[in-house]
Amino acid sequence: MAKTVELRRGSAADLPLLEPLWVSVHHRHLESMPELAPYVDDRETWGARSALYAELLAKPDTILILAVEEDHAIGYGLAHVMAATDTWIADTWRTAGRIGEIESLAVLPSHRGQGIGSRLLDALERELSSIGIRDLILGVLAGNEDAIRLYRRRGYRPTWVYLSQFEGR
Ligand SMILES: CC(C)(COP(=O)(O)OP(=O)(O)OC[C@H]1O[C@@H](n2cnc3c(N)ncnc32)[C@H](O)[C@@H]1OP(=O)(O)O)[C@@H](O)C(=O)NCCC(=O)NCCS
Repeated sequence: MAKTVELRRGSAADLPLLEPLWVSVHHRHLESMPELAPYVDDRETWGARSALYAELLAKPDTILILAVEEDHAIGYGLAHVMAATDTWIADTWRTAGRIGEIESLAVLPSHRGQGIGSRLLDALERELSSIGIRDLILGVLAGNEDAIRLYRRRGYRPTWVYLSQFEGR
């Protein structure tokens, strides 16, 4: 019988649980766009990411949802809220004053394709909506086509596209 996966709210105390989950996203990035190498290694990616998460989790409206199976975190979603004027949006689009950003969504490779990512996204959107946030953005690597398909199906549209030219030190 399939094991039950439950969703629960997380906090800054759960930060260490996110390391393998984030690193799986980083690996997905490498796999989906190998032509952009060199990438940072697993230690460096988590060093930078955990510092960002610590900052976001210290803000009042940040939402962390963990997907847990038998006490193991197997997925998470993290969203936070920004003033529209602090983003690239305010000079171009009419929105409410506050924008929600889906900062991260990840499910371990062993558990993908079973609806857990969709449940996490549902939960983040519901929590954001409950605090009045309905204008949403998220960033995704251009070559991560599976994830883009999932987001498009849920109503997100490509909006602001970064191009890069890295020297690769
Ligand atoms: C994107 C992700 C969170 C989706 O979680 P999930 O639990 O697999 O998603 P669901 O089962 O609810 O939905 C499956 C859909 O997710 C998408 N998907 C993205 N990557 C996938 C993968 N490696 N395996 C299966 N489905 C994937 C597909 O669009 C699939 O729908 P399809 O029927 O069109 O193929 C998860 O695949 C993941 O962690 N990927 C790596 C990290 C990542 O790309 N994060 C998002 C970008 S920041």
